[in-house]
Amino acid sequence: MKHPRKLVFCCTGSDCKKSGGKSIRKELKEAAKNGEIKGLVKLIQTKCMDMCKSAPVVIVGDHFCKKATLEKVFNELKKP
Ligand code: FES
Repeated sequence: MKHPRKLVFCCTGSDCKKSGGKSIRKELKEAAKNGEIKGLVKLIQTKCMDMCKSAPVVIVGDHFCKKATLEKVFNELKKP
């Protein structure tokens, strides 16, 4: 059975945090609560995923967003 919500993994390691991961996570959390992606995503925080060179790292479903921005994450979420 397919999960109704997309899983979004946000790295909370120090390198990702420093390069903007913290604000991405905050914005996603807000959007998942009352915004356009309400009820569509399940946010999961992870520790360092050992890809710090591509920080901030966000995984949407089975797609890696390297050097993630909020826009990239939203684009990925909109894909079926
Ligand atoms: S801190 Fe995010 S991958 Fe290492």
